[in-house]
Amino acid sequence: MKPKSNYPLKHKLILLGIFLAFLVIFLSRSSFSSTHDVVYSVAQNSSLQASSEAKASDCSPTCSKIPNPLAQALIHYTTSTITPQQTLKEISVTARVLKKKSPCNFLVFGLGHDSLMWSSLNYGGRTVFLEEDAAWIEQIRRRFPMLESYHVTYDSKVNQADNLMEAGKVPECMAVSDPRYSMCQLALKGLPTEVYEIQWDLIMVDAPTGYYEEAPGRMTAIYTAGMMARNRNNGETDVFVHDVNRSVEEQFSKAFLCEGYMKKQEGRLRHFTIPSHRGESSLPFCPTLN
Ligand SMILES: *[C@@H]1O[C@H](CO)[C@@H](O)[C@H](O)[C@H]1NC(C)=O
Ligand SMILES: *[C@@H]1O[C@H](CO)[C@@H](O)[C@H](O)[C@H]1NC(C)=O
Repeated sequence: MKPKSNYPLKHKLILLGIFLAFLVIFLSRSSFSSTHDVVYSVAQNSSLQASSEAKASDCSPTCSKIPNPLAQALIHYTTSTITPQQTLKEISVTARVLKKKSPCNFLVFGLGHDSLMWSSLNYGGRTVFLEEDAAWIEQIRRRFPMLESYHVTYDSKVNQADNLMEAGKVPECMAVSDPRYSMCQLALKGLPTEVYEIQWDLIMVDAPTGYYEEAPGRMTAIYTAGMMARNRNNGETDVFVHDVNRSVEEQFSKAFLCEGYMKKQEGRLRHFTIPSHRGESSLPFCPTLN
């Protein structure tokens, strides 16, 4: 049964008008009190204070304002209860290198709660994340649409690590080349084309998963990071490996990034600085240790 309508048309129009008026007020209020606007009014206020001697109009609107992506990162980490997996001391190792080199090219194996931090610390540079878990990448992409990430697949397993270590000792694996065209079983060949074409200044290996036997493990990621560093046109690459308390990360980083190139170990993070080997045919794969 249709409910009876007792209101005349005029009353209906008045009710609709009141509803629309409330809608307009609500929308304009919520846009004024959005978090971004608060951040900007605070930032603008302090920039005005800083230049209180000079006229405010001397300052271009961008000169001392916190950049929008950094403001968003600040708000994210202030309001998030989830902290990055690396410790403060571990993060500080990479942060010191970024302080010197950024804005630069930074490749990160792994996408997670620290990703927004890495891309913010490399503000103005290019930070690319590689991730093997398709569902996870979607979840993080929704939360941080500003990050550049790619889905990659690995066909190795942690329980093949010993065989891969043996396979990595052949001359094909010691020859410096673009990993795409390498004859070495450890070279990752299916990464996005751009990843092979960019000269990376920093490479962080904090993925793929490696804590159980059937997980892909970081054998090929570690090898490929070292080969990209050696194959760089010139200069050097800082390579970081996390979770070196596990045997794959421990052994593969020593064998393919070399003890002789290791700068530091802090907690479960190792830092290597690998020079370009291009046109340096006399350079051994690993420097000799004294
Ligand atoms: C702006 O600065 C003035 C002092 O110069 C202060 O009283 C005011 O609270 C500040 N406003 C904001 C939004 O920080
Ligand atoms: C490595 O360290 C992490 C964190 O302390 C711990 O959870 C993990 O069990 C360790 N793994 C090994 C193989 O010792």
